[in-house]
Amino acid sequence: MTHTQAMPPAVAIEPLGTAVPSTVPTHWYNLAADLPEPVPPHLNPGTGEPLTPADLAPLFPMALIEQEVTTERYVEIPQAVREIYAGWRPSPLVRASRLERALGTKARIYYKYEGVSPVGSHKPNTAVPQAYYNALEGTTRLTTETGAGQWGASLSFAAALLGLTCEVWQVRASYDAKPYRRMQMETYGSVCHSSPSELTDAGRAMREAYPDTTGSLGMAISEAVEAAVKDPGAHYALGSVLNHVMLHQSVIGQEALVQLAEAGEKGADVVFGCAGGGSNLAGLTFPFLGQNLREGTTTRLVACEPAACPSLTQGEYRYDAGDVAGLTPLMKMYTLGKDFVPPSIHAGGLRYHGMSPMVSHAVHLGLMDAIAVEQDDAFAAGLLFARAEGIIPAPESTHAVAGAVAHARTAADGEVIVIGLSGNGVLDLPAYSAYL
Ligand SMILES: Cc1ncc(COP(=O)(O)O)c(C=O)c1O
Repeated sequence: MTHTQAMPPAVAIEPLGTAVPSTVPTHWYNLAADLPEPVPPHLNPGTGEPLTPADLAPLFPMALIEQEVTTERYVEIPQAVREIYAGWRPSPLVRASRLERALGTKARIYYKYEGVSPVGSHKPNTAVPQAYYNALEGTTRLTTETGAGQWGASLSFAAALLGLTCEVWQVRASYDAKPYRRMQMETYGSVCHSSPSELTDAGRAMREAYPDTTGSLGMAISEAVEAAVKDPGAHYALGSVLNHVMLHQSVIGQEALVQLAEAGEKGADVVFGCAGGGSNLAGLTFPFLGQNLREGTTTRLVACEPAACPSLTQGEYRYDAGDVAGLTPLMKMYTLGKDFVPPSIHAGGLRYHGMSPMVSHAVHLGLMDAIAVEQDDAFAAGLLFARAEGIIPAPESTHAVAGAVAHARTAADGEVIVIGLSGNGVLDLPAYSAYL
């Protein structure tokens, strides 16, 4: 029996007319406008030619396809989306005074906390507009993949609010290890499958080839894309990697710039974000990077990836598919190869073979640094943070904390450090428990 009572999309996308504080951004910021060289285009996997809007039409609504290629600096946020954002945005920028004391650092550390969203991470920042534009253009069903489950839960949340149904393929390792995320998705009315599944050609082929596989985001993407392509009423939604996702996440960094100024800071010296597909990192850092490029500020930006899945620090910068079956566009990115199956580390959301083309481009141009963090160091930093600040970071976010903590130990007096705390780890406690 299903308990889904979705409101028709046409009704659900209408703004309610509620007051939205002026501190909720009115526009998304697009780094493409400020980059010294354009981001290499995505290619059609069949022809090897740059993608056309028609290539993407079976997967995405036209508004998102336009956002994927736009070089406009600002894109207006629809009022219905701002109304939903206002439920938790602006997210807090908090001075980590107790962490500073615990470290004995003379640096000033701040964290931008995305765990205040209804599902506990930054992912709703893009789930809501993606569901919104789909509903606006008549899509009724969304399909997606999820690793740790934060993205699947976020799209489920957005689909519920905007009157869509949603079906999620969750990487097997996380599906087994994180039942609460599946329950969260089901509570919002979605259906969640363990990937690889028996439901798609791609899933069946992968189960046959690798019966004991722990799954990967690349496999789950193939399944969700295939399901969307086969259903004319369905579209696919991706929680990271693509340019329009980086765009939507820019609310994080735009708010952080304002909040730092309100806190009396001239800016940040260094910003750390964890990187799986690159979306929270881009969301936080691209507005700082844009300022560096336009105004000559020198904020250092650091991508923190897991040593077990080191696309930026060990991968090749080349065109590769976003999924195992090769159904997605080819993207120029740092990649470990589409068939790379990362070890089942606790930070399921960081187990992706590739990296956002925009983040990859920024790293390639030397505009952003990247470091790899060992899982033990990430959890040690997560515990330190939890015991000093009270918030238990998501396992993914502990990578950014670890980067910042290592830096803070030797930081100069008065240095300003910003951590992207992309999510809350309360549904990931077995991962902490395994480490304790
Ligand atoms: C809390 C959290 N942080 C980070 C990530 C990594 O994704 P991205 O690099 O797109 O921010 C995830 C992915 O699921 C996540 O759930």
